[in-house]
Amino acid sequence: MFKSILLRMVLPLAITAAILAWLTMPLIDRSLTAWFRSDLELRAALVFNSVADRISELIATGSVDQVGTYLAKVTTDERLRAIVVCGSDGTVLASAGPVPADLGCRSVKGPPVGGSVELEASNGTILVSRFQTASAAAKPVDIMVLHDLNFAASRATLAGQYVLSISLVAIVLISLLVVVVVWLTLRKWAALLVGDIRSRRFLDDARSPAMSVPVLSQVRKVLSEIEARQRLEIEYQENWTPQALRQVVHDQLGAPEMLVVSNREPYIHAYGPAGAVEVQTPASGMVTALEPIVRACAGTWVAHGSGSADRLVVDRRDHVRVPPEDPAYTLRRVWLDEREEDGYYYGFSNEGLWPLCHLAYVRPEFREVDWQIYQSVNEKFADAVATECATPDPVVLIQDYHFALLPKLVRARKPGATIAVFWHIPWPSAETFGVCPWKADILHHLLAADILGFHTRYHCQNFLATVDRFIECQIDHERMTVTVRGHTCQVTAYPISIEWPPRWLSRVADAPSCRRVVREKFGIPAGAALALGVERWDFTKGILERFRAIEVLLERNPRYRGKFCFLQIAAPSRSRLPAYRDLQERTIAEAERVNARFAEGGWRPIVLVAEHQEPEQVFELFRAADVCLVNSLHDGMNLVAKEFVAARDDEDGVLVLSTFAGASRELLESLLVNPFDVSETASALEVALQMPREERRQRMRLMRQTVKENNIYRWAGRMLTDAARIRQRQRLALAPGSRPALKLE
Ligand code: F6P
Repeated sequence: MFKSILLRMVLPLAITAAILAWLTMPLIDRSLTAWFRSDLELRAALVFNSVADRISELIATGSVDQVGTYLAKVTTDERLRAIVVCGSDGTVLASAGPVPADLGCRSVKGPPVGGSVELEASNGTILVSRFQTASAAAKPVDIMVLHDLNFAASRATLAGQYVLSISLVAIVLISLLVVVVVWLTLRKWAALLVGDIRSRRFLDDARSPAMSVPVLSQVRKVLSEIEARQRLEIEYQENWTPQALRQVVHDQLGAPEMLVVSNREPYIHAYGPAGAVEVQTPASGMVTALEPIVRACAGTWVAHGSGSADRLVVDRRDHVRVPPEDPAYTLRRVWLDEREEDGYYYGFSNEGLWPLCHLAYVRPEFREVDWQIYQSVNEKFADAVATECATPDPVVLIQDYHFALLPKLVRARKPGATIAVFWHIPWPSAETFGVCPWKADILHHLLAADILGFHTRYHCQNFLATVDRFIECQIDHERMTVTVRGHTCQVTAYPISIEWPPRWLSRVADAPSCRRVVREKFGIPAGAALALGVERWDFTKGILERFRAIEVLLERNPRYRGKFCFLQIAAPSRSRLPAYRDLQERTIAEAERVNARFAEGGWRPIVLVAEHQEPEQVFELFRAADVCLVNSLHDGMNLVAKEFVAARDDEDGVLVLSTFAGASRELLESLLVNPFDVSETASALEVALQMPREERRQRMRLMRQTVKENNIYRWAGRMLTDAARIRQRQRLALAPGSRPALKLE
């Protein structure tokens, strides 16, 4: 690029300068000649002044003959040609030097007293200056001083050439300087305004020999990049994309090493019924939310390798690149034996913390042995995180209640890490949490994180009330921070979401095709209204209450018999636990009871499908349904509600949503119900089934706008922006000479 700027900028400038110089040369020449002439006139006056008195004296003393000798001594200067002394009668009294033949004291060509003229002599041009003495002792005489003007002309030409050469050199140097300044300025702009990657690319382009784009187009390029960046920043407000998220990670966090830790892995390799290895996407809100983030930011995802064929596909470091069809990041699998799974996953996590945090009225079980194993598995994952981190200051995103101890354990291994924990389930009241025997331990470990995120502000406040009640700490309610032994943890609500648009949607047919296919697949009459429930088979989801609501609906509205179906997809989950097995039995029994009560011919009101469905199948169901029923008894967020909305690009379908799901804070155009109130849920179903098309459209349009704006990239972007700010503050605090932060009392 430098060469290109040189050729395209310096050369034209130099040529322009040469033309200008050529045009201005006569002017320079004239000015210099005039300057030399006035200089010679001055010299002539000096010569006269220095000789006048002596000449007057020699004439006054009658020694006129000595005047010539005297003048001969004076005219030794090469530029002084001659001096002529004229008597008052116009005769030449004396002279020295070669005087042109036609120049006498009476010559008309001579100058008047006090003036100068130029005369052409045989050997060039002469400047003649005439003066008159004014001595009291002698009669005044005229003295003519003759200077060689050829000398002045040749000096003027020489000086003109010097001026021209110096100007040319100066113009070239200035052009070079301008080029360097422009180039450096562009570099600085690029680095400052377009970010490192872009400026590096800009500089790489600049270094490339193929690069021959002139400076102006480089400026244009940089400006358009700035404009694009500003556009992207504006779009952040409404349109968070993977690209915007990557930019946050790069610009604000400085592209650190990123690690996600969760119990559930995003892809499970398992042997299918025919013995072939199949890849499954688990039914997990956490996976739904996190997977697009890790895909966008690369990095490493550390998770429990739970699939029957998981070990088959990993390398010797237990790594496998995923997603299988288009690998974008590394999944590091951590292996757990049966005892560990029992104590850590089934025991402490799902019989202890899960019922503790969900108000579904299932009693939490706390066993010492489970707690011991929970601690050792958290240590195991902390070791795995430390092994995976190549740098001292990674960003570690810890997911959920399976890893309540991990923040402190990772901090011990990687003190420079920026640690964010997201708690995907509700946080209960202080009283409720207080029943946990190891509450203080859990709180201390969690507070070693830099950020602790919940879905709602209400959960944040429950958490602050819990730490206030059970541990020694300093809480700043305004800034929502908790400080324990000098370390501050920020407690913030980040309502989780889904990717927009969900990638699975592109593989699903339009709504009319989905309606037809789904009705055929599940034996639902073609014209029947379809309500849908899709979730893990969990006691928090309100499946039993839902069946009872359907019973009430059919009781109250006999017209729906044969014309309405409820399709329940229940993905078996945690089936080893008694509470879950019990729920499964009761769900089947309840569906059978309701079906037996209303069955007519081949029609049954409830179709229960007790199996996991892959995301494409779930999105097909969403598009086929008239109503989606999400009546969780208690739920951190519930992403099924958001996925249903995202699937309905036909702006149809009605969402019935529990007020005890975090999603109810955002999806205000859904029909909100208290899931414990079966009658209310039945009424909401009735309203949903009768809702006019235009109202369905308006409600769905508003909800789609909400989910689109508050998508998963925004969720991660907000959390990572906060993490970046905390990281910068911590670095400032560690910088030499920094003042200690003010301690708030
Ligand atoms: O969405 C909340 C969550 O607890 C996730 O953390 C978890 O992966 C998911 O529910 C499903 O549970 P599991 O992983 O035990 O099947």
